Amino acid sequence: AKGKELAGKKVLVTAGGTIEPLDPVRYLGNRSTGRMGYAIAQQAKGRGAEVVLISGPSALPVPDGVRIVRVETARQMRDAVLREFPTADIVIKAAAVADYRPKIVAADKIKKQDGEFTLVLERNPDILYELGQKKAHQILVGFAAETQHVEDYAKAKLAKKNLDFIVANDVSEKDAGFGTETNRVKIFARDGRMWDYPLMSKSAIGGIILDHVQEQLKDDTVG
Ligand code: C5P
Repeated sequence: AKGKELAGKKVLVTAGGTIEPLDPVRYLGNRSTGRMGYAIAQQAKGRGAEVVLISGPSALPVPDGVRIVRVETARQMRDAVLREFPTADIVIKAAAVADYRPKIVAADKIKKQDGEFTLVLERNPDILYELGQKKAHQILVGFAAETQHVEDYAKAKLAKKNLDFIVANDVSEKDAGFGTETNRVKIFARDGRMWDYPLMSKSAIGGIILDHVQEQLKDDTVG
C-alpha cells in the first residue's frame, strides 16, 4: 500500500485541451478529454500532496480534495500556470495545449458566404518551454503525443523544454491516447534512461509517473 510520500509537496497538473474561440459561438479544439491529467491529480492527492489541477473544458469529475482552476484558452492556461508555478514543487503538464489560435476573434457570429473562407492562425505561447526557462527547484514533466517518430520527437522535446521527464505516447495506437481509459507510454529521463510500459490504466500510469518523480526528489535531497 502507498503511504503519504508526497506530503508537504505542491503538485501542479494541467489537463484537457484548450479551446480557442473564433467568434461567440465557435471554437477550435482537440480530442483531449482530460483523463490522463485527472488520473495523475487523483494519484498525487492520494499520496498526500497539495494538488492544483488546471483544466481545459472537461466533463470529468474533479478528484476529492483537488483544487480546480478552469480555463479555456492557452493564454488563460498560461496565466493560471504562471500564478501557481513559483510555489509548486512538481509540475506535470498533461494538457493538450493548442499550438495556434485564430488571429482575429470576431465580435459577432461569422456569417456564411460564397466560396472559400480563410482562417488565419497565430502561435500560442509554449507554456512548458517557458517553465523550463524559469525552472528553479521544480521537477518538470511534459507529455508528447505523437502519431509518428514518437521516440525522436520526445527526446528532442525533453531537451528543448528543459524537462526532467517526458511521457511519450503514440496517439494513433489502439487503446492509447485520447479519450481511452488506458494508455501505453514510454518515459524518458533527462539522463538518458528510458522505460517502456505495457498498456495499462491511466490511473496506474499516473502512479508510475509519480514514482519516477519521487525517486528524483530523493536524489535531489541526497545531493
Ligand atoms: O505541443 P507539444 O507536443 O510540444 O507538447 C508537449 C508538452 O508541452 C505537453 O506536456 C504540453 O502540455 C506542453 N505544452 C505547453 N504549451 C503549449 C504546447 C504544449 O505547455 N503551447
